[in-house]
Amino acid sequence: MSVAIIGGTGDEGFGLALRLARGGEDVVIGSRSEERGQDAAHRAADLLGLGSGSGSRGSVSGTSNEDAAAACDVLVVTVPFAGQAEIYKSIRDAVRPTAVVCDATSPLATAVGRPAWQVLTPWEGSAVEQAKAILPSGTRLVAGFHTVSAERLQNLEHPMEGDVLLCGGDGEAKATIGALVEKVPDLGWVDVGPLSMARILERLTAVLVSVNRTYGIRDAGFSLTGRDSWGQPPSKA
Ligand SMILES: NC(=O)c1ccc[n+]([C@@H]2O[C@H](COP(=O)([O-])OP(=O)(O)OC[C@H]3O[C@@H](n4cnc5c(N)ncnc54)[C@H](OP(=O)(O)O)[C@@H]3O)[C@@H](O)[C@H]2O)c1
Repeated sequence: MSVAIIGGTGDEGFGLALRLARGGEDVVIGSRSEERGQDAAHRAADLLGLGSGSGSRGSVSGTSNEDAAAACDVLVVTVPFAGQAEIYKSIRDAVRPTAVVCDATSPLATAVGRPAWQVLTPWEGSAVEQAKAILPSGTRLVAGFHTVSAERLQNLEHPMEGDVLLCGGDGEAKATIGALVEKVPDLGWVDVGPLSMARILERLTAVLVSVNRTYGIRDAGFSLTGRDSWGQPPSKA
C-alpha cells in the first residue's frame, strides 16, 4: 500500500512522510509543484539513509499533488486551512473512489492573519467537513493527526509518544489510518467517533500551540487515559 502525503513538503506532512517511510511504507510526497515534491522526497531519502541497502525501510518519491492522489489508496492531506479548499478542488478528480483520505487540517486563525492559538469556524462546521463538501460523495474521509507535533515528527532522534485521535463515519477507513499510525513506534490511535467530532478535534491544535507558548516548548501532544491501549474499538455486535 502506498501513501500520498498531499502538502508533504510542509512541516507536518514531511514529518509524517519520514516516520511512515521509516516504518516501511512507500510514501509519495505531493506538492503544488512537482519539482518541490521531488526535492522533498530526496531530502527525506537522505535523512532516512534510504538506498543504503538496509532493506527494512519503505521508499519516498515526490510528485504533484494530483499525481500523488491518483497513485495511492491512502491520502493524508496536510495543508494550511487557507489553501485547503483549493487543494481539494485540485485533487478531487484524481482521488480513487475506494481511497481513504485523512485530513489533518486545523482551521487556525493564521488563515486570516490572526494568531495560531485562535481558530475559525468553517461554514460546514469543520475543515474536514468542508473537504467532504468538495470531494465526490462517498469519499472515505477520516480526520486526524491534529495533535501530532510536526517538530516531534521530524526529530527522528526522539521516539514519538501519545495518541493520534481519529474521527470519521467509516470504521474500516479509520482502522486503515490506525494501521498506518501503528507503523510508528510508541504512537497509538483512538477512534473518537463520527466525522462531526472534528469540530472539536481540529481545535485541539490551537490548544497545543497555546501550551507550547506557555511552557516554551514545541512538541506538546495528547495521550488518553482510561485504557491500557486504544486502537480498534471493541465490536458492538
Ligand atoms: N505544524 C504542526 O505542528 C501541525 C500539527 C498539527 C496539525 N497541523 C495542521 O496540518 C496542516 C499542515 O501544517 P504545516 O505546518 O505542515 O503547514 P505548512 O508547512 O505551512 O504547509 C504545508 C504545505 O502546504 C502547501 N501550502 C502552503 N500554503 C498553501 C496554500 N495557501 N494553499 C495551498 N497549499 C499551500 C505547501 O506545499 P507546496 O508549496 O509544496 O504545495 C506547504 O509545504 C495545517 O492545517 C496545520 O494546522 C500542523
